Amino acid sequence: MENPRFDLMLISLQRAVLGHAWFEDQIFLPAFEAEPLLESRFVKEISQEHKDLDHLLKLLRKTHLAKRMEMEFTSTQFKALLTTHLLKEEDGLFPLTERILDEEGMNNLGAEMERRKMDVIKIFPPVKE
Ligand SMILES: [Fe+2]
Repeated sequence: MENPRFDLMLISLQRAVLGHAWFEDQIFLPAFEAEPLLESRFVKEISQEHKDLDHLLKLLRKTHLAKRMEMEFTSTQFKALLTTHLLKEEDGLFPLTERILDEEGMNNLGAEMERRKMDVIKIFPPVKE
């Protein structure tokens, strides 16, 4: 039996992924543009994965629930990419950025992200049922 909320759940998931990507692509990653090692090893890959995750969610939203095999393949691919993406950030990107920025730099970056929190809510407003 189909869950009537499935499409809303996908929209909500897409909003969370796009909000995550926006914060990192617009605020977090540009703070490390002057670091060529980080840029070449992480930044481009992380940004590309944000686009890939969005693409897979769009594909899921376009796929009719009756196409179970296609839905299963795409959702499995999405889950695998999201899991590795978040691990890459937690185990690789974030520890390395902590070595690059001093405490004041990290505090400034955190303050900037806090300051622009309302921007992301305006760009990706909450889903209304
Ligand atoms: Fe990310």
